[in-house]
Amino acid sequence: MNHAPSIGTVYLVGAGPGDPDLLTLRAARLLMHAQVVVHDGLVEPAVLAMAPRTARFVSVAKQRARHTMPQDEINALLVREALAGHDVIRLKGGDPFIFGRGGEEAEACHAAGVPVQVVPGVSAALGAAAAAQIPLTHRENASIVSFVAGQCKGLADQDWAGLAGVGRTLVIYMGVATAGMIAEKLMADGLAPDMPLAVIENASRPSMRVVRGALAGLAELVAREAVKSPALIVIGEVAARGDIMELQRMVETAR
Ligand SMILES: C[S@@+](CC[C@H](N)C(=O)[O-])C[C@H]1O[C@@H](n2cnc3c(N)ncnc32)[C@H](O)[C@@H]1O
Repeated sequence: MNHAPSIGTVYLVGAGPGDPDLLTLRAARLLMHAQVVVHDGLVEPAVLAMAPRTARFVSVAKQRARHTMPQDEINALLVREALAGHDVIRLKGGDPFIFGRGGEEAEACHAAGVPVQVVPGVSAALGAAAAAQIPLTHRENASIVSFVAGQCKGLADQDWAGLAGVGRTLVIYMGVATAGMIAEKLMADGLAPDMPLAVIENASRPSMRVVRGALAGLAELVAREAVKSPALIVIGEVAARGDIMELQRMVETAR
């Protein structure tokens, strides 16, 4: 007699910014028992290696000709696997609900009657700030933090007024390619051209780099240093602080 398979669960799991040590215990436990892992390009191989060899891995990052799988196909894949009775680990860089389209995937699963659980991850802003020792809030410099997406589409129409400035920290995801537009936009909103900033590339990975400058020179800085994605831009007075901590570290090491 044929039995219909029971429905699996889709786990939307944050893999953090890169360093496998930044994975949550819950994510690690789920990975260790994974049947199917559907993952993005930003997930480190060392994190994927935590899943058993028997697990099936599906990369939705670079399919044929380096194209990302369209979102509706990813949604359909998650639903199909779960309806076939498989538990699916949907592994995403950082946190699934910060610029990760986790909301769309959860909604698609709910609509198909597939149970979903969400496991938070260390978002790139937090991982980068920690690794570069830039406190996103500081009693003297910032009591407001904003996260924005800086990619080209719709950037000109987005209202960022008041998000950056004295007493505030602005963290920009996906802003490397639009660095010049971002600086222009913020200065047009009245932000001082000498507002400090830091660009953190590959945060928490061995190849991490931190470059610093001021708002007016952002495009030139990114071009001169050949900054590549993934990178974050942190704008605000706190961005000058990591430098002080770096100097202290050097002094302590020299002692
Ligand atoms: C599609 S968003 C995904 C964000 C992710 N869900 C999170 O919470 O970090 C991708 C962007 O996150 C940032 N990012 C992700 N990992 C990073 C890392 N290790 N270092 C610096 N930026 C990173 C970059 O701005 C990159 O373009």
